[in-house]
Amino acid sequence: MAGSLEDIPGVGPSTAKKLRDGGYIDIVSIAVAPIAELMERTGLGLETASRVIREAREMTKIDIISAKELYERRKGVLKCTTNSRSLDSLLGGGVETQALTELIGEYGAGKTQICFTLCVTCQLPPERGGLEGGAIYIDTEGTFHPQRVYQIAENMGLDPSSILESITIGRAYTSDHQMLLVESLSSEVDMSRVRLLIVDSVISHFRGEFVGRENLAERQQKLNKHLHTLQRMAEAYNLAVVLTNQAVADPGQFFGNPNKPAGGHVMGHACTHRIWIQKGKQGSRLARVIDSPSLPEGEARFMITERGIEDLEPEG
Ligand code: GTP
Ligand code: MG
Repeated sequence: MAGSLEDIPGVGPSTAKKLRDGGYIDIVSIAVAPIAELMERTGLGLETASRVIREAREMTKIDIISAKELYERRKGVLKCTTNSRSLDSLLGGGVETQALTELIGEYGAGKTQICFTLCVTCQLPPERGGLEGGAIYIDTEGTFHPQRVYQIAENMGLDPSSILESITIGRAYTSDHQMLLVESLSSEVDMSRVRLLIVDSVISHFRGEFVGRENLAERQQKLNKHLHTLQRMAEAYNLAVVLTNQAVADPGQFFGNPNKPAGGHVMGHACTHRIWIQKGKQGSRLARVIDSPSLPEGEARFMITERGIEDLEPEG
């Protein structure tokens, strides 16, 4: 939202400076900030911090709104094409803004390839199914491959250099670093130009660092906090948030799918749409909705090609 921090009632130059130094450069980022975080990052006292957040919320109308306003806001939901009509239709038109879409699958299922494709398609104009915005890619495993994204853009008939320029990469080395990166995005990046936020993979650092039953509660608590930050960003900036998650063995399953998504109930509750990706026949890929409040259960088939992902029969 437009407006400078000094437009917030009661915020003068010195408070504005503290807020900016703490990484809050727009009113939305203040409206959605947890109070303890804002106090820690700005040095403001409890009273000032709560007043500033309250005023920012008032101005952005981010929390208490009427159902009519919510209806209007939901009309602002955009859908981004995946470059596969089949997958788009499974997703109800594409990957949705103001929501968390989770891609679950084993190694090599194609989660990262879908993310690369979305980094390109989100920049397409609306008439080509895009969101006309940039992408942020939080890379936790060092898998972002610019040459591959360049190839996808080129094969879609786009200018690959300008596509790469509109993708911001955040390389996260630990789970704490990953959380901090996401929390500080609004102060580092002009969020009004961004429409897609990817975290690939959202869970690997958490799983790697918090090993054993005794650390599970702490892990889930941190993961929960991280997912809530992502949810706030999706709503505050009208972003499509796409997370990748690993499939892990499910010892409780004797029939059917022997795997389940990592992250337990915390992941299950936070993610709006959960999509399972697996390898199919002759290099094809199969996507299934496993949990979504709005999408019917169904399947989609697609291929990984030089254009990222696309339908098995593009003409079909
Ligand atoms: P993990 O991150 O290991 O859990 O797997 P993932 O689900 O992210 O898999 P990813 O998206 O990396 O898919 C890897 C598969 O994509 C490979 O096995 C290849 O089949 C395919 N692939 C990767 N790059 C290319 C490419 O440039 N061209 C084509 N045609 N296929 C590719
Ligand atoms: Mg991957």
